[in-house]
Amino acid sequence: MRTRLEIREADITTLAVDAIVNAANSSLLGGGGVDGAIHRAAGPDLVAECRLLGGCRTGDAKITGGHRLPARHVIHTVGPVWRGGDHEEAALLASCYQRSLQLARTHRLRSIAFPCISTGIFGFPAEPAARIAVDTVHRELDQDPVLERVVFCCFSADDAAIYQRLLPSG
Ligand code: AR6
Repeated sequence: MRTRLEIREADITTLAVDAIVNAANSSLLGGGGVDGAIHRAAGPDLVAECRLLGGCRTGDAKITGGHRLPARHVIHTVGPVWRGGDHEEAALLASCYQRSLQLARTHRLRSIAFPCISTGIFGFPAEPAARIAVDTVHRELDQDPVLERVVFCCFSADDAAIYQRLLPSG
C-alpha cells in the first residue's frame, strides 16, 4: 500500500487523525507554541498523563492519549534547539520524525500529523528542517504496512510553500 503524504495549512489541534505530534520540551509538561496549543485543547488530563512519563530526551518521542482533542493520541517529541548547525541538530531532528513513526507503527496507527518541529521557538531554519522531515518520512514509510496518511501540518503559508516545493504532488 502506498502512504499518502499531505500538506495542510491548519491548526494541528483541529485534525482528526490517529495521532498528532507535539513539538514539546524535555519536561513534557507544556510550553508555548504548538505545545501550548495542544495542551490547551486537550485539557488538564493531558499534562497529568505526561507527568507519569518521566520526561523525554531530545530526538526521542513518547505517546499519550488525545483526551479532548479530535486526535486519538498525541506523540510528544523533543526537537533540537538550533545552535548554528554544528551540534547534531540535523540528526536529532531526523530522529524526532523516525521515533514518532516507530511509535505509530507499534500502535498500528493509520494517520499521523506533524507540525514543523523545532522551527519556531527552537529556531531551526524552516527549509532544511522541511527537507529532513520529508526525507525521513519517506525512508520510514517503507517499513510501515499500516500507515495510510502522513500530514505535514503547516501553520503559515510560507511553510506550506516550502513543503509544496519538496512534495510537488502533495
Ligand atoms: N498548529 C500547527 N503548528 C503550529 C501551531 C498550531 N496550533 N502553533 C505553532 N505552530 P514551536 P519548537 C508551528 O515553537 O520550535 C514550546 O515552548 C510553529 O509556527 O511550537 O519545536 C515547547 O514546550 C512552528 O512552525 O516548537 C518547547 O519548549 C512549529 O509549530 C519549544 O516551544 C514549531 O514551533 C519547542 O520549540
